[in-house]
Amino acid sequence: MHTDRPVTRLPINAAPGKRSGLLVFLTLWLGAAILCATALAAPAPGAKSSDQSGKQAPNAQYVGSDTCASCHEEVSKNFATNPHTKMALMPGNHEGVTCENCHGAGSEHVAGGGDITKIFDPAKASSKDVDAKCLTCHAGAHPDFLRSPHAKANVSCVSCHSIHASKEETLLKAPQPTLCFQCHGDTRAAFNMPFHHQVPEGLIKCTDCHDVHGTFAENNLRTAADQSAICTKCHTDVRGPFVYEHTPVKAEGCTSCHSPHGSQNARLLNMPSINTLCNQCHSRVANGTVHGQGAGSDELEPCTTCHTYIHGSNINAAFLR
Ligand code: HEC
Ligand code: HEC
Ligand code: HEC
Ligand code: HEC
Ligand code: HEC
Ligand code: HEC
Ligand code: HEC
Ligand code: HEC
Ligand code: HEC
Ligand code: HEC
Repeated sequence: MHTDRPVTRLPINAAPGKRSGLLVFLTLWLGAAILCATALAAPAPGAKSSDQSGKQAPNAQYVGSDTCASCHEEVSKNFATNPHTKMALMPGNHEGVTCENCHGAGSEHVAGGGDITKIFDPAKASSKDVDAKCLTCHAGAHPDFLRSPHAKANVSCVSCHSIHASKEETLLKAPQPTLCFQCHGDTRAAFNMPFHHQVPEGLIKCTDCHDVHGTFAENNLRTAADQSAICTKCHTDVRGPFVYEHTPVKAEGCTSCHSPHGSQNARLLNMPSINTLCNQCHSRVANGTVHGQGAGSDELEPCTTCHTYIHGSNINAAFLR
């Protein structure tokens, strides 16, 4: 359901030799902006640390994952099934240096018998340093993270992801929506209302509508492929364009009439009755006799009994059947 943009596809997934040299060159060239030295340069065993993760041990050298494994047996064993083992396929990278791609060159840590002041530990680093480290490889798929409300509130990659301890897909610390509700308690209340998008039931996910890694829209909202509101990705029948548009649908958007998470009212409407909703903008209609009914009768009959195609129509300017 959430395939509206490419997933992480780093050039490293290309099996060596399967792409033409030119394509590899272009891919690398395009990738240069997003992949820093950590990713591209070969941090081969013995090479000197020059990336920022090594700032706690600026003179350290790369020793390779086998060395790490000699003391961190458990972590290393579990890492064999981690999606990050794919880093070993990165151009110029070497199997065995993946630990240090995130933790920085480790020779001084090792020489110190496991000196924890000489190794980059994301769990103890500032959110800014963690994000910078992860984004050396992931900025391509998540270019808007640093301007997202999450990053600005110091919610970092490792607030939601755990590299070593996750048992969930995409290395999440907890599945959705549990993860989100840990911090967004207010939002949970909306999904407990009688009418709600079936997120707690698992039918759709928070991230069908939001990209927590940041977007150009407010509230981290995704947009549909044609840049219209994300809602029309699933509710294609109301997408239009229509010969006769109902102005607020396009101008103010779906949330001018619907509560996106949940509501006390059927159809997720943000007003207790349809007529109250319509009369916010069409105030004179309810009391008038413009509809050829007896005065007041249309206060009882929902406007949409007659104005059925309320999201727009190709046949009738008043959205009548
Ligand atoms: C000589 C044994 C040894 C080797 C080799 C070794 N470590 Fe460690 N490492 C330790 C010890 C001991 C600790 C402290 C453990 C503790 O306090 O629970 C530690 C702690 C760490 C920590 C946590 C730091 C913290 O802030 O608590 C990280 C991350 C780490 N090592 C990564 C690595 C990496 C990556 C390598 C390979 C480059 C590596 N280690 C190689 C012994 C080693
Ligand atoms: C993709 C980045 C990344 C890679 C690659 C990586 N780590 Fe880590 N490591 C982390 C993060 C983030 C943490 C903080 C805890 C967490 O998120 O799971 C951490 C924590 C640790 C710790 C301390 C906490 C613990 O779980 O004991 C050790 C030790 C460690 N890593 C060792 C290693 C070793 C050894 C390797 C290679 C086999 C490795 N790491 C590869 C990101 C990484
Ligand atoms: C040196 C490059 C590099 C660094 C640094 C790095 N990653 Fe990754 N990451 C990768 C690669 C390669 C993959 C596998 C991509 C794929 O499957 O296409 C990956 C996959 C992931 C995935 C997706 C896992 C899945 O199941 O699809 C997550 C989540 C992730 N990384 C988070 C992080 C976080 C958080 C950090 C920082 C602590 C980090 N990465 C640091 C290269 C990196
Ligand atoms: C607020 C929680 C949260 C934060 C913060 C967060 N992520 Fe994620 N991440 C998720 C969730 C949820 C998913 C799965 C749904 C999706 O794709 O949006 C995911 C998916 C991913 C994936 C795999 C799918 C993809 O779109 O590429 C990668 C890689 C990833 N995150 C990396 C990162 C990195 C790197 C950071 C920090 C720069 C980060 N995330 C920060 C929650 C978070
Ligand atoms: C570690 C706590 C934490 C987790 C986990 C978390 N968030 Fe957030 N989120 C925040 C904070 C803090 C902000 C910024 C302050 C605010 O707007 O509430 C924020 C902002 C947001 C916003 C933007 C709100 C706005 O006003 O623009 C959305 C949308 C959002 N989060 C959705 C999610 C979703 C979906 C998940 C689960 C995949 C999630 N968050 C997980 C803490 C978290
Ligand atoms: C059907 C699409 C959709 C789903 C699913 C969804 N949201 Fe939202 N969310 C929105 C829209 C649209 C807004 C903007 C609200 C507005 O404009 O009134 C929003 C706003 C927010 C905000 C900003 C504060 C607020 O309530 O207005 C947060 C935080 C948030 N969502 C979190 C979540 C979390 C957490 C989940 C999953 C439990 C989730 N959303 C699921 C569409 C969705
Ligand atoms: C990922 C697909 C998806 C997205 C995106 C989505 N919806 Fe939905 N929506 C559904 C599904 C599935 C249902 C019906 C099942 C249910 O009750 O949750 C539904 C139900 C509804 C209903 C109630 C319909 C009824 O007959 O009671 C309304 C109204 C609605 N959505 C409006 C919106 C709005 C507004 C947005 C954007 C903020 C949106 N939807 C985004 C999938 C989606
Ligand atoms: C001017 C108010 C208004 C706007 C704006 C609006 N809707 Fe509605 N919508 C309604 C009303 C009223 C109903 C209930 C119709 C009924 O009960 O007969 C409804 C019903 C729905 C339903 C239930 C199924 C159906 O078609 O009757 C969905 C789904 C829906 N709207 C989605 C959307 C989406 C997506 C958007 C934005 C593209 C949107 N709406 C914008 C007023 C609005
Ligand atoms: C947020 C404000 C808003 C809401 C709520 C709203 N409308 Fe409208 N509606 C408009 C605007 C603006 C126009 C365009 C008026 C114009 O062009 O003179 C319009 C046009 C119409 C038209 C066509 C009128 C014409 O002159 O061609 C009908 C019929 C209509 N609305 C019915 C409804 C009904 C029924 C509801 C409740 C389900 C409703 N509207 C809710 C703002 C709203
Ligand atoms: C019994 C059917 C019926 C009901 C109920 C009804 N309408 Fe109408 N409405 C009509 C007809 C028929 C027209 C005239 C269409 C035309 O002239 O082409 C109309 C026209 C309109 C127009 C066009 C502008 C105008 O004044 O001529 C608006 C706006 C409108 N209705 C809003 C509403 C609202 C708001 C409600 C609920 C409070 C409502 N209608 C209830 C049948 C109905």
